[in-house]
Amino acid sequence: MFSSTSLSLSFLALLLCFSAVAESSSSKSNKPPAKIGQGYRLIAAEETPDGGLIGHLQVKQKNNVYGPDIPYLQLFVKHETDNRLRVHITDADKQRWEVPYNLLPRESPPALKQTIGRSRKIPITESSEYSGSQLIFSFKADPFGFAVKRKSDGQVLFNTSSDESDPLGELVFKDQYLEISTRLPKDASLYGLGENTQPHGIKLYPNDPYTLYTTDISAINLNADLYGSHPVYMDLRNVGGEAYAHAVLLLNSNGMDVFYRGTSLTYKVIGGVFDFYFFAGPTPLGVVDQYTSFIGRPAPMPYWALGFHQCRWGYHNLSVVEDVVESYKKAQIPLDVIWNDDDHMDGHKDFTLNPTNYPRPKLLAFLEKIHSLGMKYIVIIDPGIGVNSTYGVYQRGIANDVFIKYEGEPFLAQVWPGPVYFPDFLNPKTVSWWGDEIHRFHELVPVDGLWIDMNEASNFCSGKCKIPKGKQCPSGTGPGWICCLDCKNITKTRWDDPPYKINASGLQVPIGYKTIATSAVHYNGVLEYDAHSIYGFSQSVATHKALQGLEGKRPFILSRSTYVGSGKYAAHWTGDNKGTWEDLKYSISTMLNFGIFGVPMVGSDICGFYPAPTEELCNRWIEVGAFYPFSRDHANYYSPRQELYQWDSVAQSARNALGMRYKLLPYLYTLNYEAHVSGAPIARPLFFSFPTYTECYGLSTQFLLGSSLLISPVLEQGKTEVKALFPPGSWYSLFDMTQTIVSKGGKYVMLDAPLHVVNVHLYQNTILPMQQGGLISKEARKTPFSLVVTFPAGESEGKAQGNLFLDDDELPEMKLGNGKSTYVDFYATVSGGSVKIWSEVQEAKFALDNAWIVEKVTVLGLGRRVDASAVEIDGKPATGVSGVEVSSAEQVHFDDDKDGGKSTSVMVEVKGLSLLVGKKFELAWNMGIKN
Ligand code: GLC
Repeated sequence: MFSSTSLSLSFLALLLCFSAVAESSSSKSNKPPAKIGQGYRLIAAEETPDGGLIGHLQVKQKNNVYGPDIPYLQLFVKHETDNRLRVHITDADKQRWEVPYNLLPRESPPALKQTIGRSRKIPITESSEYSGSQLIFSFKADPFGFAVKRKSDGQVLFNTSSDESDPLGELVFKDQYLEISTRLPKDASLYGLGENTQPHGIKLYPNDPYTLYTTDISAINLNADLYGSHPVYMDLRNVGGEAYAHAVLLLNSNGMDVFYRGTSLTYKVIGGVFDFYFFAGPTPLGVVDQYTSFIGRPAPMPYWALGFHQCRWGYHNLSVVEDVVESYKKAQIPLDVIWNDDDHMDGHKDFTLNPTNYPRPKLLAFLEKIHSLGMKYIVIIDPGIGVNSTYGVYQRGIANDVFIKYEGEPFLAQVWPGPVYFPDFLNPKTVSWWGDEIHRFHELVPVDGLWIDMNEASNFCSGKCKIPKGKQCPSGTGPGWICCLDCKNITKTRWDDPPYKINASGLQVPIGYKTIATSAVHYNGVLEYDAHSIYGFSQSVATHKALQGLEGKRPFILSRSTYVGSGKYAAHWTGDNKGTWEDLKYSISTMLNFGIFGVPMVGSDICGFYPAPTEELCNRWIEVGAFYPFSRDHANYYSPRQELYQWDSVAQSARNALGMRYKLLPYLYTLNYEAHVSGAPIARPLFFSFPTYTECYGLSTQFLLGSSLLISPVLEQGKTEVKALFPPGSWYSLFDMTQTIVSKGGKYVMLDAPLHVVNVHLYQNTILPMQQGGLISKEARKTPFSLVVTFPAGESEGKAQGNLFLDDDELPEMKLGNGKSTYVDFYATVSGGSVKIWSEVQEAKFALDNAWIVEKVTVLGLGRRVDASAVEIDGKPATGVSGVEVSSAEQVHFDDDKDGGKSTSVMVEVKGLSLLVGKKFELAWNMGIKN
């Protein structure tokens, strides 16, 4: 409504110096942006028949800085849902590049000019409001500026209007330069704007640079544009003790610098349109729900994907791979998935097998063996297709004309196979050809998932290249990343050399540096300049389409490059990190950011990609990595071997931490379901569960799995203790359930953490479903369940809740209602001396068919001792009947609100149960006092 009011040592050295320069160039970018234009004025506005608002803007005064201003703009505002507002601004006279609507399906804005003159005219007053949802849009006519307010609390979320006492840059809209700024309250905490390794942790840090442009520079580069582009941030504010979160997405795929200065944020974008989406929140979980309902819900993962993965670049032959699998088993360390980097390929060419090192019959026999155990196999694919006239994939690619073009010819680049062409995944023909190649490869090798790498896209050369005559390319042995083509820089077009230079690679290198030339052309004349950052995304969509048709199974894809919406198709790992303590720490912030980006299946190379980790670091890394949603050990070609069994001490830490992960698989799988239906991240910053507790807003050294499981790892060398923050409430150690932390108002606690110990605590009011673990998830999944029930320690009244999702994880879709899934809610109360634990079951059949049972219930935090004889199941006495046993033990609390810092409560264990998971039950007892 409208109303008026791989590194070799030398390569690593190069990267390190790259990052040093990146840091120094970042400080340059801290200068406030120069004022570039006088802005626009609103000259007409009207309401569209479907309740949208269209406005026409006219530039106030033209200038030529970064090119001429676009004289007229069309503004379109729409309350798309109750909690989502769109503000779209584009050239009023000419269609401009936007993220393709078929790749990221969404409503189209009205055609240019069409509605003007036909709909209801709105009088333009100095300041007008347009409401219709949880959000209110208001604008100032001259110079044009807009604000977005949330109705419930009246807070201004975004405000682009300048005022004389506090000037902001005006709106600028040129063909290759768009600028807009918003004011922010000083105490807003912002998260997101990636992909970026953030040395200051998860909270955006004023004056750190945030450049978004998909780039293959390793994750060791701090504050630089990395593999993915996610122009979205979440803003969390605490107002008078209440927490409010919202998110802002600028849906634009062009390169951009975002300057966050604490009280303002400025976007400087080199093309496309302003297409803002505001998500009203107000809870962090509400924000990701609203965001992923728009960009696409995270992909469902097969059960095995939550198991442990081992990979390495440099498994030179199949025997090495076989030995790795055997060695994991011997060391009794869980392993679900074994990976090949490009070692299985013939000459690094996609979809091929090296006949000597990976002979097909032997590989097939190996796969049959591991598949029969429930283990899986994944291989890498790079987008670059080797230019080789005897190579079928290439021949068919040429025949179908699937490659990105430069001056009418396929654009030539170099990646691992040597000279390559890049498929253009915006072309429907390419998508079919790619699907066909995947199907052919699957006939050759029945892989269980695909790893799509180097898809930023990475190129070892820059510019326009030719294959050198009479020279071997690449030369030498081993993977070569030195450009061996004959190349010339391309600077002749404004796409290669745009007027405004984003801080590309953290170094202001040309935007075509070591990637596809930005004047290269995709399907329908789309410029690489515009589509660059959606390359990996478009490859994920095409790969997902191909896998979905295969054996009718749920696809698994791991992609290095991601964009808004990638989580619907792929998991992500954080790329080439270093085997250092700093990188171990940074992995937590990047993982947590990807949860906000709608890509919850994420992890980092455990123990680091390069260089070799120390034994101590690898111990600590598996203790963190065992709780990454995506848990994979991966190493560089030149690194020494770092599988978890290579050191006895690491093997011990792995058995401990991964042993716990495998017991938690039903919980992780339920979180995967929650992510799929509501976007809830699997790994979350603490503020997701404790949004009013400001102490945790910047906490980047601990994280939650789901809402209640707190991981507090050691991240520093030589430490055997860890200082961990405990938000208010009772926290129970999962490894030693008798140890409890009672945190009245929230506090830091020094926890013991010897080398093999990682601290994991479960919050009060929770019912956690666990199983008995195992070495392969398929086996672990068959074991009986136990439930851990946590009440506020020692209180006489309390409630707890939990849930469990089970399904046939090979089905492409993850949902209730297909006859192959079950959902269980668990509830518990303690009240006036009575304990009651019960379940409610939706769609029981799948759980009943699998005969899963709950055999143990552990209740933590009770105030008084149990009367063991009185346990009843479904109203009938059960203690001592068919093996049911009840025992109790004292729990010690670290409780500084009590004298001497200690207090106690009671833990009760009911064992020997055989409660069917698929049948609702009620377990109850009255407590008697025992001394
Ligand atoms: C890239 C990937 C890395 C992989 C290597 C070789 O650097 O990030 O994980 O091992 O390429 O394929």
